[in-house]
Amino acid sequence: MMRTPCLLLLLLPPVLCVSETSLEPCEVDDDDFRCFCNFTDPQPDWSSAFQCMIAVEVEIHGGGRSLEQFLKGADADPKQYADMVKALRLRRLTVASAQVPAVLVTAFLRALGYSRLKELTLQDLEVTGTPPPPPLEATGPALSTLTLRNVSWATGSAWLAELQRWLKPGLKVLNIAQAHSLAFSCAQLRTFPALTTLDLSDNPGLGEHGLTSALCPQKFPALQALVLRNAGMDTPNGVCAAMAVAGVQPRHLDLSHNSLRATAPGAPACVWPSALDSLNLSFSGLGQVPKGLPARLSVLDLRCNKLNREPRLEELPKVSNLTLDGNPFLDPEAPKYQENPTTSGVVPSCARSSLAVGMSGTLAVLQRVGGFA
Ligand SMILES: *[C@@H]1O[C@H](CO)[C@@H](O)[C@H](O)[C@H]1NC(C)=O
Ligand SMILES: *[C@@H]1O[C@H](CO)[C@@H](O)[C@H](O)[C@H]1NC(C)=O
Ligand SMILES: *[C@@H]1O[C@H](CO)[C@@H](O)[C@H](O)[C@H]1NC(C)=O
Ligand SMILES: *[C@@H]1O[C@H](CO)[C@@H](O)[C@H](O)[C@H]1NC(C)=O
Repeated sequence: MMRTPCLLLLLLPPVLCVSETSLEPCEVDDDDFRCFCNFTDPQPDWSSAFQCMIAVEVEIHGGGRSLEQFLKGADADPKQYADMVKALRLRRLTVASAQVPAVLVTAFLRALGYSRLKELTLQDLEVTGTPPPPPLEATGPALSTLTLRNVSWATGSAWLAELQRWLKPGLKVLNIAQAHSLAFSCAQLRTFPALTTLDLSDNPGLGEHGLTSALCPQKFPALQALVLRNAGMDTPNGVCAAMAVAGVQPRHLDLSHNSLRATAPGAPACVWPSALDSLNLSFSGLGQVPKGLPARLSVLDLRCNKLNREPRLEELPKVSNLTLDGNPFLDPEAPKYQENPTTSGVVPSCARSSLAVGMSGTLAVLQRVGGFA
């Protein structure tokens, strides 16, 4: 009989979490630094997670099960265990592989509000139901990094705005991969005043159109790095246009691992953010340097593309740090044609990585078929 929210890092006294099974789902390393739990057993011993209370990094896998059984504990007043949570060394937490009611997620964040947690990762979660009304003042943790990978929310496009209300401002890095919805309701979203890195990599169905809805205008005033690896981007100019609409001014833009095309002839020119000084176009299948890149950059990475000749000076922006490794013109020995279309014309040292992109390309197709929002 498990009724208490033991999984919420066992925020209640140990005695409430008794269980008969003996298999140990959790393990702490010798330095008491990292604790890893895997609750795949049909009758897991949740109390095993108590070992994690001394750890700095904790990773909990729920074996894909529903955590509805912990709902009973979700309305407990977090003040009753505040001192215990304050004493935790916990800085990095990963919760993975479970079905979680939204009410439990918010109870969990409220409890973590007393902790010194800095980095939270949610992975392979299905968040069900609607969350309670947001608090007047953020009562959750003061995170610096929030990472979400393959998390679905019953509330659809409102999810980020709802989640945001619980987090104390100060979030610096937001990573959202394999998202089910990135078409945020911008009117509900508040500003992320301290967010310097927005990473939307591994959303192969996003595309430039999706990017325009994800980048809510004026919500990311401190943005310095926009990372769009393997995010279904088509052309650098299309990304430039989306950034212009959103008014973001990053210094670093990563478009690696997209199947980029040269800008279509006649496409309107775009004014790049004036601050932009580092652009990553590696692993993008480029046969030539795209036109319309920023005139001046400090760093330009064109590694592992399909450039068959050395780019002429006038084709490149003024750039002090240029990488061209892994392009066919530098490696005349590289086979120009191979059986596998995803690796043809690719220098062997770059092939493994582009193959990976080929496979996520398949994922993109599947997601599009599946109605990526
Ligand atoms: C958890 O345990 C199951 C069964 O032993 C295993 O298949 C799974 O890969 C484990 N998960 C992780 C993240 O280690
Ligand atoms: C995404 O998460 C769901 C659980 O919510 C899981 O069933 C599915 O296998 C995950 N997908 C991937 C690609 O890991
Ligand atoms: C560009 O992206 C590739 C692959 O994502 C990475 O390995 C490389 O370090 C990046 N280059 C720069 C200059 O950041
Ligand atoms: C070029 O840029 C990369 C990525 O920013 C950096 O690691 C490297 O040291 C730079 N090289 C030079 C010569 O400045």
